[in-house]
Amino acid sequence: MAKTLVTYFSRTGNTKLVAEAVFGALAGDRTIKTMAEAGDLAPYHLIFAGFPVQAHSVPYPVEVFLKSIPEGKKVALFSTHGSVTGSQLAREALEYASILVARARLVGTFSCRGKVSMKALEVLMQSPEHEAWADMAASAATHPDESDLEDARAFARWITTLGAQGHYRGL
Ligand SMILES: Cc1cc2nc3c(=O)[nH]c(=O)nc-3n(C[C@H](O)[C@H](O)[C@H](O)COP(=O)(O)O)c2cc1C
Repeated sequence: MAKTLVTYFSRTGNTKLVAEAVFGALAGDRTIKTMAEAGDLAPYHLIFAGFPVQAHSVPYPVEVFLKSIPEGKKVALFSTHGSVTGSQLAREALEYASILVARARLVGTFSCRGKVSMKALEVLMQSPEHEAWADMAASAATHPDESDLEDARAFARWITTLGAQGHYRGL
C-alpha cells in the first residue's frame, strides 16, 4: 500500500502550518512528522519535505535530511520565507534544496511567505547578511494566510493526482 510522509522543520510554526495544510489535503495512508522524528524513509513512496528559508539557504538539519532521502524516492519540496514571493531571494533556497535531492525524484516545489516577529526583524536588520530579505519581511506579517494554505492544499492534491505524470512548480 502506497504511503505518504509529510515532514517538516519549523522554528516558529509557519512551515508547520503549511505542512498541516498539505497533510490535510492528502487521502490514503499518510503520516506527518517533524524531520527529527521522521526515522526510516523506506516505507514511504512519496515524501513532502518542508523548511523555512534561513540566511538565504536551507537550515543545516534540513540539508542533512534531504541528502538522506533514498535514491529514486518521489519528493515534493515546500518552503516558507520572509522575502517577497517570486523574488530570487525566495527561490534560491528551494533551488538549492532541489539539488540536495538530486538522487531522488523531485515531483514538485511550492513556497509561500511566512511572518517573522518584529522583535527578531529588528535584530536581523542590523546584520548586512540579512538586510536584503529582512527589509521585505515586514510585509509578510499576515502569512501564511488562508490563501497560502489553500495554495498548499492545491499543491498537495496536484502532486498526488496529476503530479504523478508531470512536475508541479509552485509559486
Ligand atoms: C534567523 C532567520 C533567518 C532568516 N533568513 C531568511 C532569508 O534569508 N530569506 C527569507 O526570505 N526569509 C528568511 N527568514 C524568514 C523565515 O524564512 C520565515 O519567517 C519562515 O516562515 C519561518 O518559518 P518557521 O516558522 O517554520 O520557522 C529568516 C528568519 C530567521 C528567524
